Amino acid sequence: MAPDSSTLSSICVGIVCIVTVRKVLPWLYTNIIGPIFLGSRIDFRRFGAWAVVTGATDGIGKAYAKALAKKGLNVVLISRSLSKLAAVAKEITDAHNVQIKIIDIDFTDGPQIYQKIEKNITGLDIGVLVNNVGISYLYPEFFIEYITRYPQFLRDIISVNIHSVTNMCGLVLPNMIAKKKGVIINVSSFFAVIASPLLSVYSGTKAFVDKFSEDLQTEYQSQGIIVQSLRPCIVATNMHKLKPNLFAPSAEVYVDSALKTVGIAGKTNGYFPHALLALFAYLSGNYIIKIVHFKVLLRIKSLLSKSEKEI
Ligand SMILES: NC(=O)c1ccc[n+]([C@@H]2O[C@H](COP(=O)([O-])OP(=O)(O)OC[C@H]3O[C@@H](n4cnc5c(N)ncnc54)[C@H](OP(=O)(O)O)[C@@H]3O)[C@@H](O)[C@H]2O)c1
Repeated sequence: MAPDSSTLSSICVGIVCIVTVRKVLPWLYTNIIGPIFLGSRIDFRRFGAWAVVTGATDGIGKAYAKALAKKGLNVVLISRSLSKLAAVAKEITDAHNVQIKIIDIDFTDGPQIYQKIEKNITGLDIGVLVNNVGISYLYPEFFIEYITRYPQFLRDIISVNIHSVTNMCGLVLPNMIAKKKGVIINVSSFFAVIASPLLSVYSGTKAFVDKFSEDLQTEYQSQGIIVQSLRPCIVATNMHKLKPNLFAPSAEVYVDSALKTVGIAGKTNGYFPHALLALFAYLSGNYIIKIVHFKVLLRIKSLLSKSEKEI
């Protein structure tokens, strides 16, 4: 027997209510009501006197280092280039009355780098860790072509994007757990969750960061630890060499917004226009995004791989 129209309309109302409670309300809270209207309720200094930021000499990492120093935290800056580290340290100490420690290491080097980091951060009261360092393809490319041409570079992407995150968490978490407080911000990417053909290894590493963060949060939230996975879309940094605009903000604008989501959203795009793009992608369905994004990335590949060959 077919259901009558009142049963059907009750089922429809039920579905709308479930979608609203499960999807719409959390989206509104984590993207608008929480960060924009309530603002972050987090006093970062409450977690410890020091923050550690990886990839801290440019882009999003540098913006985090500056923003956390502005909030009164001492900052450990970690990156490859000693001269860039010294310049960022000076820029921060000229502007804020905080201490800065610099550690020059290359995350593509072997596991011994973590002993050097450990030696340098032992004894510091670390409240915040920003696992920001990350590298991507030189240009979008099919996996086999890329691994044939740049096998070491693909291994480096995995070392920088994945091993840094797991090892840095391994270094700072024991003390955070002992004092029952700490904030870990892991910079993933929107590409972790949407179809990203021709960037498969990069997007795979970012999906790792996203999933690792979610499960780490479940393991340690009862111990007072906040773990956030940040999924930026496009931020105007060296990675893209774009001029800032509404949908590709400067790193400073992006981080200012993302910091307001800590403690409010476990997984977030960190910036309202990026959340709108994510919502659009979600509503369009992965199938359509896959086709469109593949076409866009094929076009970028043909432009960039040509210029890369000319270099
Ligand atoms: N920009 C975006 O649109 C975007 C979008 C989604 C996700 N993300 C993610 O956001 C994070 C930061 O990206 P970004 O755009 O700010 O990058 P960026 O401007 O290229 O800066 C990268 C930083 O990482 C350091 N770094 C690079 N390779 C390193 C290595 N092997 N060892 C140590 N340090 C290294 C660089 O410093 P030195 O050169 O001094 O070493 C620099 O401080 C990455 O994880 C990226 O995947 C970015």
